[in-house]
Amino acid sequence: MACESRDEAAAAGKNTNPQAFEENALSEVRHVIGVVSGKGGVGKSFVSVALAAGLQKAGATVGILDADITGPSIPYLLGLRGQRLMSLGDLYLPSIAPCGIKVMSSNLLLGREDDPVLWRGPVLAGALRQFWSQTSWGPLDYLIIDMPPGTGDVALTCYQSLPMDGVVIVSSPQDIVSMIVTKAVKMAARMDIGVLGIVENLSYLVSPTDGAEIDLFGPSHLKRDAELCGVDALDRLPIEPALAEACDQGRLADALPDDYLPGTVARALMLEAVPAPVPDLAAMDARLDAYRDSLGLVDGVPEGMEERDATPDEEPF
Ligand SMILES: Nc1ncnc2c1ncn2[C@@H]1O[C@H](COP(=O)(O)OP(=O)(O)OP(=O)(O)O)[C@@H](O)[C@H]1O
Ligand SMILES: [Mg+2]
Repeated sequence: MACESRDEAAAAGKNTNPQAFEENALSEVRHVIGVVSGKGGVGKSFVSVALAAGLQKAGATVGILDADITGPSIPYLLGLRGQRLMSLGDLYLPSIAPCGIKVMSSNLLLGREDDPVLWRGPVLAGALRQFWSQTSWGPLDYLIIDMPPGTGDVALTCYQSLPMDGVVIVSSPQDIVSMIVTKAVKMAARMDIGVLGIVENLSYLVSPTDGAEIDLFGPSHLKRDAELCGVDALDRLPIEPALAEACDQGRLADALPDDYLPGTVARALMLEAVPAPVPDLAAMDARLDAYRDSLGLVDGVPEGMEERDATPDEEPF
């Protein structure tokens, strides 16, 4: 991709934003996939590792760029606690986890892993630039970007500056999360980035006594949300206490069973032939309005008041 022209990149469905970060001569990353959610704690980092491990099992070379710079957790999940980054000349070398996945994370830059990252927006964007432009990723089939939660500054920088092929949206079966899923899909669409589909994490718990599925956080909304957003429903992941324990022991990649996250891994493997489509915002809004109407959720303005848009002073991007 280092030698790819902007036209070639556009033809391949990649980010051609003029604010795109430059790739260095020692990196050759074929596909970049963001893992996003509108809300924290639904399992983005978990799904990032599962996707990376699944692609690796399919024979791909894989790295994870931990873009959650103020809340990094990838080194923790992959058994890299206490490691520090090395550099070669003016380029960083990613750490290599015991499972073979390459990792860049602010956690690997800290003197102590419990030191907080107290950086403002421009410094966070600078760190992200270093993780891409000043990191020798080498040849990689897939780089997974573990994004920070929400639609804030760093997420925007990822969308604008990294050559993303598309994003995987992570949700959980709570209503509030459904609403937030649509925001995440809309953000990708507004940034002209494709969506591979939605993964519903923490979807159910398998009863240890009779194997029945228990809807711990309520019934699944995966199919409904995917239809409303016009994107693919990729996978439903159960809550697995053994995997939560593996996370805490830094051996998540090794603990994942074969064929974990099958829909998402298969979709990522198809990227070469089938680019991730950018959702149609107008069609999505029409479906969401029709759905709200069907629930009787019609907006009303109390007498004596008027609606006011909360428009910031400047365009956000
Ligand atoms: N399917 C699952 N089964 C068991 N434990 C899980 C599962 N998914 C996530 N977890 C656990 O839930 C916690 C939160 O997951 P994770 O860190 O991936 O969320 P996140 O969305 O990345 O959070 P943040 O927004 O803070 O970055 C982790 O401790 C992880 O070990
Ligand atoms: Mg995380």
